[in-house]
Amino acid sequence: MDKSCINVGILGWGTVGTGVSKILVNQNNLISKNNNIQLNLKKVVKRTLPATREGIDLPTDCLSTDPNEVVDDPEIDIVVELIGGVTDAYSLIKRSIQNGKHIVTANKALLAEHGSDLFQLAQKNSVSLNFEASTAGGIPIIKTLQESFTANQIQSVCGIVNGTCNYILTEMSEADVEYTDVLSDAQEKGYAEADPTMDVEGIDAAQKLTLLIALAYGVNVPVDQFHVEGITEISQTEIQYAKELGYVIKLLAIAKLTDDNRVEARVHPTLLPERSLLANVGGPFNAVCVIGSAVGPTLFYGQGAGEMPTASAVVADIIDAAKSIQSGVSSPISQAWLDKSHTEMSVCAIEDIVTRYYLRFVVIDRPGVLASIGSILGNCNISIASVIQKEPHCTETVSLMMLTHKAREKDMQAALKQIYTLEVVKGDAKLIRIEEEVAF
Ligand SMILES: NC(=O)c1ccc[n+]([C@@H]2O[C@H](COP(=O)([O-])OP(=O)(O)OC[C@H]3O[C@@H](n4cnc5c(N)ncnc54)[C@H](OP(=O)(O)O)[C@@H]3O)[C@@H](O)[C@H]2O)c1
Repeated sequence: MDKSCINVGILGWGTVGTGVSKILVNQNNLISKNNNIQLNLKKVVKRTLPATREGIDLPTDCLSTDPNEVVDDPEIDIVVELIGGVTDAYSLIKRSIQNGKHIVTANKALLAEHGSDLFQLAQKNSVSLNFEASTAGGIPIIKTLQESFTANQIQSVCGIVNGTCNYILTEMSEADVEYTDVLSDAQEKGYAEADPTMDVEGIDAAQKLTLLIALAYGVNVPVDQFHVEGITEISQTEIQYAKELGYVIKLLAIAKLTDDNRVEARVHPTLLPERSLLANVGGPFNAVCVIGSAVGPTLFYGQGAGEMPTASAVVADIIDAAKSIQSGVSSPISQAWLDKSHTEMSVCAIEDIVTRYYLRFVVIDRPGVLASIGSILGNCNISIASVIQKEPHCTETVSLMMLTHKAREKDMQAALKQIYTLEVVKGDAKLIRIEEEVAF
């Protein structure tokens, strides 16, 4: 279709919506010059008005509280959904697609739950559905997996994809403070929401992993079908012991292809060797490491959230959609969402993964304790790589740390069950999985 000016409507004028409106209005000439397209921001919708934003002047008639003024306006070509949440976003996007509009969204929660329906609907209506900003904010990882690595069998995709958790873990490591204190500080600085549950429990990272897996392996794996563990149980004790052992703790989202052609999917705190590149991704930054059969290891680093980095990705998607409109060719859509029978690949249960482990037991300081624990581990096919025991300080208990060689999770859980029956072992062990191969 030859359209000299493409009209854009934005649903949501919060953090990201504001950044997008700034780029569309203030950088309009640059976008036009670089891409040979003319974008016009026709309408911006939010729940309450009046509203102003520093750094951007929108005419009053550009603002509305009625989403129908975007969704049902025949002149609007591209709908940019930035309201967040699932229910309203789902119905507004569905209606927009049915009205023939191209969609851009940053909403990982929506796509993790309804990606299949929405992509099928988009294909049926010959419109594009672009979602670069939904994972790792300003880092162009979606496009990279979808386009640049399309000639590769992806061996693994692992990343630090939640800036809140990375900020908290970095502060705990550098400033020697406990989790709850850093969380309050992160909330004050705007790195954590008032209700941080989605971030600190690992759910946000898991939703992003679902999207990465769909692109890397063509499988649609809902969040409730893999192991998700947040950072709330990480204490200063673990941070310090990890340091002594030469490791750093990060919340990683991990997807790997197994030898028997299954997909390993998990989100949990992970020990990374302190010299690895991923271990040195600090503060609210994100990084995603992709290992491809042809390209080998690659690492993408940048700001995973925030007004302008996220807006950068959203506007790139708007420009792609505008080019699709002009050329009449829609952007590619991942097979994972279009055809559930597309792949035979299944997900590897957490019990079947093979990895190294950090374990910390609190035990009574008595002869034979190490031998008892070591014997149970050995009988369960788990070999100890190193052991550290701290001298007791005014208590009869001591911390006993172990790093294991690679072991199967099922064996580890069976061993722990037996170890907990030992009268000398107090409480449950702290278990943190170690990753070395994905972290280069
Ligand atoms: N913030 C980030 O750094 C970031 C990074 C990556 C992805 N994302 C994703 O981007 C999306 C937007 O995030 P955000 O941080 O910009 O959110 P936000 O600051 O909370 O802004 C949401 C905006 O949507 C409007 N809104 C909410 N429900 C609405 C409805 N039913 N009808 C009309 N307007 C509605 C709100 O209106 P009012 O202003 O009137 O309340 C507000 O303007 C989310 O999906 C988020 O996961 C955000």
